Amino acid sequence: MLFRNRFLLLLALAALLAFVSLSLQFFHLIPVSVAKNGMDSKSRKRIMPDPVTEPPVMDPIYEALLYCNIPSVAERSMEGHAPHHFKLVSVHVFIRHGDRYPLYVIPKTKRPEIDCTLVANRKPYHPKLEAFVSHMAKGSGTSLESPLHSLPLYPSHPLCEMGELTQTGVVQHLQNGQLLRDIYLKKHKLLPSDWSPDQLYLETTGKSRTLQSGLALLYGFLPDFDWKKIYFRHQPSALFCSGNCYCPVRNQYLEKEQRRQYLLRLKNSQLERTYGEMARIVDVPTKQLRAANPIDSMLCHFCHNVSFPCTKNGCIDMEHFKVIKMHQIEDERERQEKKLYLGYALLGAHPILNQTVGRMQRAAEGRREELFALYSAHDVTLSPVLSALGLTEARFPRFAARLIFELWQDREKPGEHAVRILYNGVDVTFHTSFCQDHHRRSPKPMCPLENLVRFVKRDMFVALGGSTNYYDACHKEGF
Ligand SMILES: *[C@@H]1O[C@H](CO)[C@@H](O)[C@H](O)[C@H]1NC(C)=O
Ligand SMILES: *[C@@H]1O[C@H](CO)[C@@H](O)[C@H](O)[C@H]1NC(C)=O
Repeated sequence: MLFRNRFLLLLALAALLAFVSLSLQFFHLIPVSVAKNGMDSKSRKRIMPDPVTEPPVMDPIYEALLYCNIPSVAERSMEGHAPHHFKLVSVHVFIRHGDRYPLYVIPKTKRPEIDCTLVANRKPYHPKLEAFVSHMAKGSGTSLESPLHSLPLYPSHPLCEMGELTQTGVVQHLQNGQLLRDIYLKKHKLLPSDWSPDQLYLETTGKSRTLQSGLALLYGFLPDFDWKKIYFRHQPSALFCSGNCYCPVRNQYLEKEQRRQYLLRLKNSQLERTYGEMARIVDVPTKQLRAANPIDSMLCHFCHNVSFPCTKNGCIDMEHFKVIKMHQIEDERERQEKKLYLGYALLGAHPILNQTVGRMQRAAEGRREELFALYSAHDVTLSPVLSALGLTEARFPRFAARLIFELWQDREKPGEHAVRILYNGVDVTFHTSFCQDHHRRSPKPMCPLENLVRFVKRDMFVALGGSTNYYDACHKEGF
């Protein structure tokens, strides 16, 4: 009972915070003192501090609530903000799928009872929910590249299947889509009312949760779209690296990064003790429990206000949750400080950034194709892109996170194009590694397209020990 009351309070608090605060969705604003494990974090910048809403110390519950991204009242966002003489040319949207059922089960416990059917009298609700379902029911396989057409177009199981998108996940992306519609279509007229199929570029990985998230966003963006005019491409790789996935050096960085992660875990005796206790409760070896990645399942309990599982030996509880969540936060922080992940991220994100830059350059040349691009993806897609861009303060991608690149033309100097980059509605353009200085030297409200192009075509690799292109950086001897 105590647990439930606390939950109620926390969820109410979450709704309030989501409304009041915007910047805290994005940055770790906390003035980090000397952290545990001897990690000195004083070098971390505080960006856009918001002393009113941000808790004074890193709070695992607060962070978990941001991660859940529980839909609430209309969110403020900075997308589409530009001076009058700027014209919006193209928009490139990267999303993480919405709230989903866990991918793992906690051994020997009942899995959480979450209903994945979409119904009006259950929260969270969106006014377009029923219309979305009936529109999906009319969906046609010709709009989807093989093997996507074997996937269901919306979630429908009374007891969610593993990894299935939930109603919360659908609502999150209907909201995202509607928000982007208001800004990009109604305000900036990105697409003409008789838009043609080649003005959209849609791509998703082959999971039902990413396809359905992409469709929900698209439905919010273009309600009752003509199925004959849309085409979702299938991306086999979570890195969206298409024909350029082979990169041995990237894998070497990843192995080193995983080693770092392992060593950090070993240092955390409180974490080991917590896993031990939980393993005793569910009566499996600690190793087996850890391998079942219990935080994934616990987050589902947490985000859905379902109490943690119990056995005859006791209950998994909020204290266990806090310890594991806190470790995740510390891991994330160390990951950004030690540069191994950056190496992985630069190589992992290059192909998709290169593709995006190519699309922007064609749009800047006046081609009227692929003006709106949507990539429906995973945390393991967004996370390397954020790191590669130099957004080290960015929070780990929450459910239904969105990362957006906007391309603008200066009408007063039609030859000049500029980009804005937004993460969950926050303008992070001048936090990227390729546009930090620009902010100080120029009064311009955005970043020249050339900066992004130069970064993606060349400077990304300089950071990796002097290579000049992707192929060399991926095959460097003696790494
Ligand atoms: C959480 O669950 C409890 C009991 O199951 C319920 O009374 C409460 O309203 C729920 N809170 C929210 C915010 O849904
Ligand atoms: C980068 O994009 C160009 C076209 O814009 C393409 O020719 C090239 O193969 C791409 N390189 C990589 C590594 O993705």
